[in-house]
Amino acid sequence: MAATFPALVLTESDGKVTAGFQDLGIDDLPEGDVTVRVTHSGVNYKDGMIVNGMGRLVRDFPHVPGIDFAGIVETSDNDRYKPGDAVVLTGWRVGEVHWGGYAGMARVKADWLVPLPAGLTAKRAMAIGTAGFTSMLCVDALEAHGMTPSAGEVLVTGAAGGVGSVAVAILARRGYAVVASSGRPEQHDFLTEMGATGIIDRAELAEPSKRPLDGERWEGAVDTVGGTTLARLLSQMRYGASVAACGLAGGANLETTVLPFLLRGVNLLGIDSVMQPYDNRSRIWQRLSEDLPMDKLDALTEEIALADVPKAAGDILKGQVRGRLVVALGD
Ligand SMILES: NC(=O)c1ccc[n+]([C@@H]2O[C@H](COP(=O)([O-])OP(=O)(O)OC[C@H]3O[C@@H](n4cnc5c(N)ncnc54)[C@H](OP(=O)(O)O)[C@@H]3O)[C@@H](O)[C@H]2O)c1
Repeated sequence: MAATFPALVLTESDGKVTAGFQDLGIDDLPEGDVTVRVTHSGVNYKDGMIVNGMGRLVRDFPHVPGIDFAGIVETSDNDRYKPGDAVVLTGWRVGEVHWGGYAGMARVKADWLVPLPAGLTAKRAMAIGTAGFTSMLCVDALEAHGMTPSAGEVLVTGAAGGVGSVAVAILARRGYAVVASSGRPEQHDFLTEMGATGIIDRAELAEPSKRPLDGERWEGAVDTVGGTTLARLLSQMRYGASVAACGLAGGANLETTVLPFLLRGVNLLGIDSVMQPYDNRSRIWQRLSEDLPMDKLDALTEEIALADVPKAAGDILKGQVRGRLVVALGD
């Protein structure tokens, strides 16, 4: 075990959060029953918020952020894991309330870990990360509520981002006609490459609707944007269709009427990736290893170093990250 390892550490002074790099030792890590040598982490929207001190998500400093990681078990006091096991972690407020993955080592509870699914490398697991895990939760929920590939067009908002681009790739692989909503014309070729059969400008959906019900268009929707976009697309859902609401990149407020629910039987499905119980977590990872084409995953992934995380955390909040960023911490 390395004597020290690099870490991104957040400190707070006079209410201002600052990110800096430190070498930490194993004794600096918080309590937990499994110590993991982190090989890869990811950059998610929530990481952007945390590294930039937004939303008071972190209360105790110093803090190591990084809401997901993959790596190799170094030591374990739990029977489920032994040294050398490959593991993945997303959720459980790791990187937020507990120290996270932007460090060479992490110590966590065994209950929070999932074995690395067969067929996935640690890098690909973090290319999926919290964002891709959430994309699959959305598709899974929509299908559980009756969405099938034969029916009609499925909309993905914030499509060029992490959750969005993985959702487009999964849906296309499963045979859906996927329409990608994006505010970045320069990403249209990328979205087509991911499998989108149609693209609309996000401004079309961001306009508040003038009527409680628009023409019926979408057979399903994965919404990462929230706000007026979610209100608008609710008014455009087909009879009995569902929206998986997972994000707030465009706003946390939702002003709508109940008419899509009452007159069209539309379902608004809430998606949370953080507190998913173990069995569902394993099932969703298994589905990801089967239903997400790896060539598409590789094409939407960019690898960065730990030193690049503060800049990437700013970029993701500005909507400037395409697909997924994987942070390489070792081998
Ligand atoms: N519920 C959960 O458990 C869960 C889990 C993971 C993520 N999330 C949430 O899902 C959202 C997406 O996360 P992510 O990691 O995929 O982030 P991301 O990579 O930054 O993707 C967000 C995308 O939203 C679009 N966007 C950005 N600002 C916008 C605005 N003002 N109005 C409309 N669209 C905007 C952009 O796509 P285009 O450039 O293509 O328009 C951007 O790429 C975030 O709100 C995040 O908090 C929730």
